[in-house]
Amino acid sequence: MRHRILFGSVTVLAMMVLATIAADASHPVTDTRVPSSAMEEALSYKAPFGDARSASPDIIEAGKKLYEGKGACHLCHGISGKGDGPAGDMHTPHPPRDFTDCKFQKERQDGELYWIIKYGSKGTGMQRLIPGMLSEEEGWKIVAYVRSFCSAQP
Ligand code: HEC
Repeated sequence: MRHRILFGSVTVLAMMVLATIAADASHPVTDTRVPSSAMEEALSYKAPFGDARSASPDIIEAGKKLYEGKGACHLCHGISGKGDGPAGDMHTPHPPRDFTDCKFQKERQDGELYWIIKYGSKGTGMQRLIPGMLSEEEGWKIVAYVRSFCSAQP
């Protein structure tokens, strides 16, 4: 009995340590992934339909189709947007971003999200996807959909 309790505690402790390591592996949401030399360019990028957070439902719907289809974002970022896609685990030490994290959404301008989709995030699994895989217009529709993962909160 005593052993079982001890074993249980050790298992819980090990899980906590692993969870901490996993949490540390993500780049902090406060750290933009756009290099400082490209920030001016990134901030100059604006969606053709205005603020991506208030995009119309049809633009968001088109973005969802691209996210789960041609863009294949869901393979890493997950259908849920939480970064839990089937290929997400391959990306240690920097896992795919959790788009449902509103703190992350608040930290980023639309242009920063767009810049990463266009040029990728250096040293991670996030590749440059515009114009090779997606057109600029498609990229912006996806940004609108990415924004919608946090629509429940301000
Ligand atoms: C092969 C896996 C993979 C695919 C496919 C993928 N991503 Fe990513 N993405 C990542 C990883 C890993 C990161 C985290 C990079 C980091 O920590 O800097 C990331 C980061 C991002 C970021 C930046 C988050 C930030 O911190 O600013 C955006 C935006 C993004 N992805 C959008 C997309 C979109 C949109 C698609 C589809 C068109 C997509 N990604 C497809 C793996 C992927």
